[in-house]
Amino acid sequence: MQLEPGQTALVTGAANGIGRALALAFRAAGLHVVGTDVNAAALQALAAAALADGGAARFTVQTLDVRDAAAVEALAASLDANGGVQVLCNNAGVLVPRSVWEHSDAEWRWLFDVNVHGVMNGLRAFVPRMLASGEPAHVVNTCSMGGFLASPMLGAYGATKFAVRALTESLQYDLQARGAKVGVSLLAPGAVKTAIFDARHAGNSGADADDRASEGAREMMRQGTAAAGMEPAAIAAEVLLAIREGRYWVFPHAYMVPAIVENAGSIVARQEPAFDFAKAWKTGQD
Ligand SMILES: NC(=O)c1ccc[n+]([C@@H]2O[C@H](COP(=O)([O-])OP(=O)(O)OC[C@H]3O[C@@H](n4cnc5c(N)ncnc54)[C@H](O)[C@@H]3O)[C@@H](O)[C@H]2O)c1
Repeated sequence: MQLEPGQTALVTGAANGIGRALALAFRAAGLHVVGTDVNAAALQALAAAALADGGAARFTVQTLDVRDAAAVEALAASLDANGGVQVLCNNAGVLVPRSVWEHSDAEWRWLFDVNVHGVMNGLRAFVPRMLASGEPAHVVNTCSMGGFLASPMLGAYGATKFAVRALTESLQYDLQARGAKVGVSLLAPGAVKTAIFDARHAGNSGADADDRASEGAREMMRQGTAAAGMEPAAIAAEVLLAIREGRYWVFPHAYMVPAIVENAGSIVARQEPAFDFAKAWKTGQD
């Protein structure tokens, strides 16, 4: 669909990283933006950065926990009077690296609540409104290469992202079946230079042996991302291009796509899964 002034884009997890870059990119494209996040202080900093350019479109920030279905619905309802939302980016996400048996029950639930229920809450509130408007609209769900390829220490995160991949593909089929004017994109980046490895569930004290193992993995991932990660602004540019082209698949790390083909081949060949670190941490420059 065309992106043009007068439309509104809503981004979840907009205070940092990819969401922040998306909010600023929609702003630069002349759209009204509603940036939402749980981090109120970082949202204020985002608002200040956005308003510094003096653009004419509205740029509002709103504290919103994507786990809170009633709050997401209330926000959607409050935006109806202003013409609703034409572009929805279900982007908020959290990650804790651990072996699958080491996550507490609370941490498993937190990961699924934010990464999966957060996306569903966004769809439940906004898609019916998009359908009712009859106007072109677009949904972008942030998945990950981790939604295609499993890795050690990322079992819980990967499970949430496999879920996002599945539900987003079904969303596309359900909208197609209705002949809806609502496009869908699945954003599946590899490493991006953000602070996602600093996310921490409140119940995670950082004190026990499992937490220290998790901290070691975080540090390895931080370093890998700092060395080879893409800039959030480059991811946002890819997303805007995909919306304009009406394109479903958004793979900013194009060099990683052959690994999906390889993985599918190894499944068909019934090969025993064995993780190859050298291959997994390969960068586009290798
Ligand atoms: N950084 C990467 O390497 C990478 C790679 C692939 C996919 N992703 C995905 O990109 C998305 C954005 O992550 P990022 O890397 O920009 O991380 P980030 O930590 O920089 O930003 C995530 C934002 O989500 C917010 N958030 C956390 N819980 C929330 C909640 N309950 N409700 C609303 N907001 C909440 C955080 O406050 C933060 O501002 C995530 O879905 C992540 O899984 C990131």
